[in-house]
Amino acid sequence: MTDSDLIKLRGLVDLHVHLRDPGQTHKENFFTGTRAALAGGFTTVIDMPNNARPITTKVALDQKIKSAERQIVADTGFYFGSLGDNLEEFVKVSDQVFGLKLYLNVTTGGYLLDKSYLEKIYRAWPMNKPILVHAEADVVGLVMQVVEATGHPTHVCHISSRAELEPVLLAKKSGLPVTGGVTPHHLFLTDTDSQRLGVFGGVKPSLKSASEQAFLWEHLDDIDVVESDHAPHTSQEKEDGSAPYGMPGLETTLPMLLGAVRDGRLELPDIERLCGAGPRKILGLPEEDDTYILVEQADFTISGSKLMTKAKWTPFEGMTAGGRVRKVVIRGTTAFENGEVVAKPGSGRLLRPVT
Ligand code: DOR
Ligand code: ZN
Repeated sequence: MTDSDLIKLRGLVDLHVHLRDPGQTHKENFFTGTRAALAGGFTTVIDMPNNARPITTKVALDQKIKSAERQIVADTGFYFGSLGDNLEEFVKVSDQVFGLKLYLNVTTGGYLLDKSYLEKIYRAWPMNKPILVHAEADVVGLVMQVVEATGHPTHVCHISSRAELEPVLLAKKSGLPVTGGVTPHHLFLTDTDSQRLGVFGGVKPSLKSASEQAFLWEHLDDIDVVESDHAPHTSQEKEDGSAPYGMPGLETTLPMLLGAVRDGRLELPDIERLCGAGPRKILGLPEEDDTYILVEQADFTISGSKLMTKAKWTPFEGMTAGGRVRKVVIRGTTAFENGEVVAKPGSGRLLRPVT
């Protein structure tokens, strides 16, 4: 196959990944995580702050950035976190991060914000940077009230149900600065798959029924982003009783979306919007020159053992994807080709917000 048989897309952006570094590098690190990003067509990833030691101080953030610098093979940016007790840190880090992530429901790491702090945090975080929320079910409505009171740009992560999407659609309609993301696992798996997957289907928000999933698909035009929520855990951890929530996703997002293109449920420009222009707009992230991916549109069977992520498992095991990345070029230099990452550790760029 020559390059001319392949489809060229701009490098994709995943605004929601958990690369686990520092603190849980047995699950993933900046090298393995950004290799997985390249293999999945993402030339840019933004890393979440729920590390083993949450990124809620400038010291912790600086340590994380230092660890990333030597390892990354894709462009990498960061979010800050808060449990409501670090507002004085906000001004120190705001030029280093793309936004603030708040966890309003229980998830991996037990990193849960007391909702009574929400408005105080909203008022302390700089207006020119988004707040991203993990908010499930009726908590989305509560967040929308705070957005209305503060006017603060807010991204609602991994919308999984009608109850979560409806308040976002309403808020958008009334002109509030709200965006919404969906994950491939909520688009392509349901609670029927949960039974089959057992502990490997455990994720927050949980997989939902086919009718909830259909509601997401019906409203995809009003959704801004597909985010992988790449959340690697070892298969041993998944099986040993503690079963942390989350599933790897960087390398299966584009292949699954291309399956939807094959099936006539999406078109390539939808992928460019949801994994490119949409996240870039939220992050205020300009395009990089000469940064693109070449994609082969052909069916293949997804297999966890072939993935670059340390996790080496996927909830999409055995499913027929619609295509995969054959080449990744970043700023004119080939970073991934013939199934191999050729970029050297540290060749990715540490991203800072433009303002
Ligand atoms: O399933 C999840 N896993 N949901 C989250 O919100 C966090 C993530 C993780 O960090 O493992
Ligand atoms: Zn997440």
